[in-house]
Amino acid sequence: MITYHNDVHHIKTEKYSYLFRVNRLGLPEHLHFGAPVAAEDGSAFACKPTPGWGSSILYEQNVYGHADNLCLDVLSLEWSGSGRGDYRESPIELFMDGEAIPCDFAYRSHRLLEGGAPMASTLPQAMDAEQTLELTLKHPWGLALKLYYTGFETALVRRAVLVNNTDKTVTVKKLMSLCLDLPGQYELISFHGAWNAEMRRHSQPVTGGRVVTDSTTGFSSNLHQPGFLLAEPGAGEDHGRVFGFNLIWSGNHYSSAQRSFQGLTRVMQGISPVNFARELKPGDVFESPEAVLAWSDGGFNGLSACFHEFVNRHIVPKAWQYRQRPVLYNSWEGCGMDFTHSRLLDLAKRAKRLGCELFVLDDGWFGARNDDHAGLGDYTVNRKKLPHGMDGLAKAVNELGMEFGLWFEPECINENSELHRAHPDWVLEDGLRRVYGRNQLHLDLTKQEVRDYIVENVSRVLDSANITYVKWDMNRHSVALGSRAYDYILGLYEILGRIFGPRPQILLESCSSGGNRFDLGMLCFSPQVWCSDDTDPIERLDIQRGLSYLYPQSTFGAHVSAAPHSMTLRNTPLSTRGNVSFFGCLGYELDLKHLLPVEEQEIAAQITFYKACRRTFQFGSFRRLWAPEGEAWQVSGDGKTCAGLFHRLIHAAPGYEQLRLVDLDPEKRYSLRSREQLLRVGQYGSLVHHIAPVNLDPNGLVLRAVDRHYPMKDGVEQMSASGAALMSGVMLHLRFTGAGYDPNCRNQGDFCSNVYLITEE
Ligand code: DGJ
Repeated sequence: MITYHNDVHHIKTEKYSYLFRVNRLGLPEHLHFGAPVAAEDGSAFACKPTPGWGSSILYEQNVYGHADNLCLDVLSLEWSGSGRGDYRESPIELFMDGEAIPCDFAYRSHRLLEGGAPMASTLPQAMDAEQTLELTLKHPWGLALKLYYTGFETALVRRAVLVNNTDKTVTVKKLMSLCLDLPGQYELISFHGAWNAEMRRHSQPVTGGRVVTDSTTGFSSNLHQPGFLLAEPGAGEDHGRVFGFNLIWSGNHYSSAQRSFQGLTRVMQGISPVNFARELKPGDVFESPEAVLAWSDGGFNGLSACFHEFVNRHIVPKAWQYRQRPVLYNSWEGCGMDFTHSRLLDLAKRAKRLGCELFVLDDGWFGARNDDHAGLGDYTVNRKKLPHGMDGLAKAVNELGMEFGLWFEPECINENSELHRAHPDWVLEDGLRRVYGRNQLHLDLTKQEVRDYIVENVSRVLDSANITYVKWDMNRHSVALGSRAYDYILGLYEILGRIFGPRPQILLESCSSGGNRFDLGMLCFSPQVWCSDDTDPIERLDIQRGLSYLYPQSTFGAHVSAAPHSMTLRNTPLSTRGNVSFFGCLGYELDLKHLLPVEEQEIAAQITFYKACRRTFQFGSFRRLWAPEGEAWQVSGDGKTCAGLFHRLIHAAPGYEQLRLVDLDPEKRYSLRSREQLLRVGQYGSLVHHIAPVNLDPNGLVLRAVDRHYPMKDGVEQMSASGAALMSGVMLHLRFTGAGYDPNCRNQGDFCSNVYLITEE
């Protein structure tokens, strides 16, 4: 609900109040973002008028010493300009005739709009908005700035739009989506990384120096995630005040936080101004993407819950909202580009036997694509590999009772491709010599003919066979700078809308060298995103945990792959590979032909378990649990709770370990049972005498044969306890103690884990 009373605008939901007022000089002053309050409380939050100190500039000077003199530098503002005495960072920078112009925007009008903010470009936006407040500010030279506020249940969306109503060309150097001054002291939690190491959490205090997180790769990037948090010092997973920010945008982004001496933290977020310049002719409009803000006094988990609900309800495409995702098998890590129809079909049969529901053919199916030097840009099916065509393969997979999905990388081109030979001018160039990433270049999506080519060709392939899933990949950073990179992303959004808008039945998973474009913009088209090429489960603990602060687990593509892992050489138990992937959209990505019978048994059991709890894993409320010795996650929903407890390196003489759940009914009784998981006998090597009555040669044929065919069961934990007890922390079985196999022990070593199913009795 959005109300206006005594100059105070109030956006209120059950979860939060957002209050600002327009002061007597027409400047929007931020009052409050936090717990729901009444509009009348507005003035209680206002910064007190100051006389202005020493060197500071007064926006308006009354009689000397008058208490109502306005010094912008110390006010809590919703927006600010430049050259008027606010020397904190400005969210807007404009040029006219080559000169920076002072920016002074003041209130002109406001109105309530039904639905979301009007959008003139292809920028995606949050869905199902009920009401939007449009605040129009005017610059004395004729520019208009529109600030939009849309309230959703658990998050608020803001954006800014600039209209050039002057008779001159204005250059936009910077236009943030959001600017806000928050009283208080904060820690900034941001997420940085690299290829294979996405979403590592960093924390630092916000002080007088500006802290910037930005990306300049042309995309949201694996280097610096656009979403971030501001937390009051001492906030934990379940307590304390936390603000969250994110951007519905997939290109270069920018955010900053800086604390003023008076104790206001200025935070802003938008398109990166680095190398950015956009000319607006008289009458032209420049739109910033939507920024998303959330607040919680329930700690990081509370904040994540707000974001998760917002993404599930208002970001992912309607047809896939809360729609369960199939367990998939992807061909990439199993066979790369080296496949034939019959090899794929053999894999599909094996995947089907294990319980997979969707077979995805990854890279290598078109043109001369036998390695990553050729073929990108072409769409002709390679008939040597696939003599029955895509339709033939899809039909054969469908006949097995599985759905069929296909990989594309439409934004890129290899020089060695038919497309490049025909249209070398379609490459995104910057006027200097070409620079390559994974041997490829970008197509120039700012050109209409390039966009049409992609739309026509991807659509043709999609309509040529029964394809119900697409993996949309993009494997390099860009050479486009600033404004061109902006147009590229708008072009990409146009393409995605044209291809997938009319085909809502297709489940789109976006990917970019793994998690190089995990952002709310892509999620508006693709309900899930491939988190990382790093599928090592121990690495995934960090990656999926990092993502979980901002995104719901329904958006994570999470696959089980081979061990030792191709990126780390780490050897992890198959059970842990499954257990980590459960907390996302489960898939398998390894050569199934090489599975041992014991591994097939474990995988089939994993898939059966996951399917039984699928809605809970994919859409249940996700919590990061207290786990001093490892990592623990909980999901609850659909009448169940599942918890995962994961360990990295373990130590001898294990101490007692508790599992401490949350969000249960203290009065109710629950049964807790760990998922049965299988142990490999071979894991014990020369310690086999610990588990077998006879002393076998650890390298001998007998033990090897036993290891392949006869798994042992790990200890299963089972208890009945009240919700109150489970939330206080219940004692778990000991981990392996060196005293031999014990069914009342968790018998695995390093990288062991368990998943527990908790149901009401
Ligand atoms: C990068 C992706 O992240 C991988 O999963 C795979 O699809 C390859 N590209 C294929 O080239």
